[in-house]
Amino acid sequence: MTNAAPLPPEIARRRTFAIIAHPDAGKTTLTEKFLLFGGAIQMAGQVRAKGEARRTRSDFMKLEQDRGISVSASAMSFDFREYRFNLVDTPGHSDFSEDTYRTLTAVDTAVMVIDGAKGVESQTRKLFEVCRLRDLPIVTFCNKMDREARDTFEIIDEIQENLAIDVSPASWPIGSGREFLGCYDLLNDRLELMDRADRNRVAESVEIRGLDDPLLETHVPADLLAKLREEVAMARELLPALDRDRFLEGSMTPIWFGSAINSFGVKELMDGIGKYGPEPQPQPAAERIVYPQEKAVTGFVFKVQANMDPKHRDRVAFVRLASGHFERGMKLLHVRSKKPMSITSPVLFLASDRELAEEAWAGDIIGIPNHGQLRIGDALTEGEVLRFTGIPSFAPELLQSVRATDPMKAKHLEKALMQFAEEGAAKVFKPAIGSGFIVGVVGALQFDVLASRIEIEYGIPVRFEPSQFTSARWVQGPRDLVEKMVNANKQHIAIDNDGDTVFLTRLQWDIDRVLRDYEGVKLSATKEML
Ligand code: G4P
Repeated sequence: MTNAAPLPPEIARRRTFAIIAHPDAGKTTLTEKFLLFGGAIQMAGQVRAKGEARRTRSDFMKLEQDRGISVSASAMSFDFREYRFNLVDTPGHSDFSEDTYRTLTAVDTAVMVIDGAKGVESQTRKLFEVCRLRDLPIVTFCNKMDREARDTFEIIDEIQENLAIDVSPASWPIGSGREFLGCYDLLNDRLELMDRADRNRVAESVEIRGLDDPLLETHVPADLLAKLREEVAMARELLPALDRDRFLEGSMTPIWFGSAINSFGVKELMDGIGKYGPEPQPQPAAERIVYPQEKAVTGFVFKVQANMDPKHRDRVAFVRLASGHFERGMKLLHVRSKKPMSITSPVLFLASDRELAEEAWAGDIIGIPNHGQLRIGDALTEGEVLRFTGIPSFAPELLQSVRATDPMKAKHLEKALMQFAEEGAAKVFKPAIGSGFIVGVVGALQFDVLASRIEIEYGIPVRFEPSQFTSARWVQGPRDLVEKMVNANKQHIAIDNDGDTVFLTRLQWDIDRVLRDYEGVKLSATKEML
């Protein structure tokens, strides 16, 4: 099977994407409007309200509330025109890059939201870099045009220079701040006007025949119209026209201007994602490339979330379907354990609530409730042995030891830690000598999140403390040699949550010493997921 085989219409209409943004740029508001236009919610304001409800249900979002940051990712599906959108929510804080990175392996495109007054901010840049590593196509939404924004050319230049990507305007703003009227739709030669009276209403678009159409004069005051005509003429001369191939390879981004809170520009953006795509993309596996149009169902776990519903203590593995047409009740091979799994109660995350998924197609994200068998990076297939390679493993960069404030709770703590390790929220090491655990994470804030979740979900107050170690290395090599090294270095040895041997140290010197004294032993900073 090659790329040339046509996609079944059900797959071709799918758009699986994430929103990346610096905190406060308007990601939540935009998400809400997507859902509103996707018919998934009736009234704006529900995402937050819903968020609250979800928090009380699962509780572990207390930290999210306290700090105003978004910690966990979820996926939501909705229809818009002929398209099925799957929106995968990315955690917003920079400390969660590991989680974010994995989330971005599950999508085919990213919407980058920037604040029209602030332009490219630090977090936008970081997230953009992650997208670039994967050559993800990026659609840009310049938000908050109802406030005083920067000059349009300046915004575009900043994106081009800062992110080294060509920007092609899909719409052009008319005025900004209190003067903001709406946009000229450069792709369809239409005038889109903002309805200031009702934030959730979208004004009818005005069909016009180009910028010389006298009809424009009835809608746009003379001074703004003169400016618009001049700027659009300049933009068309100086900026590249939208080229779908360049967008798909990630070297050009179309930009729409709007105001999410006023529902303005959102439909045009959604139309753009629908029209320009991309549709579900082939996924790399160690053995071969998997094409979405293949008949057999395959998919991979990119996220595991525990305690979504504390009453059930379940875990949900989020699976991105890479190929085929999935039907509920299917028996799939869990490649890592080589065991069949009947997928009897998969869930699709419709914005309104979780819902049983009777069927799903390549590109969709389904949740599979399970008791811990499914881990990040795992593949599900109809029998073929496949290892998807897109999911990276990260080296834990910060180590701390953790202790239950009540020593009687040590056993419970172990259980909680193991569970978070399975979720991919941390690496957990049990030192060969002494008691207690060492936890390794990528960003410092993860310690706070863990402490909060352990307390809320397991009722165990814990303390994280600096550890005597700063680096962890997974040990590989011939068994005898590894055993010899382990026996001679007990004070440096720990076992990770999968039972694998790890060498802990604070000095590069120790690592060099082991490599020198035990030729054949390998110490690696990351552990492959499979
Ligand atoms: P985030 O998820 O990216 O962090 O951003 P969020 O949507 O929460 O938006 C951040 C703030 O910006 C919110 O204001 C939101 O109302 C506002 N906002 C979003 N889109 C627009 C827009 O198009 N125009 C204007 N003027 N503001 C916008 P807040 O005061 O922090 O919260 P709230 O009181 O409105 O809930």
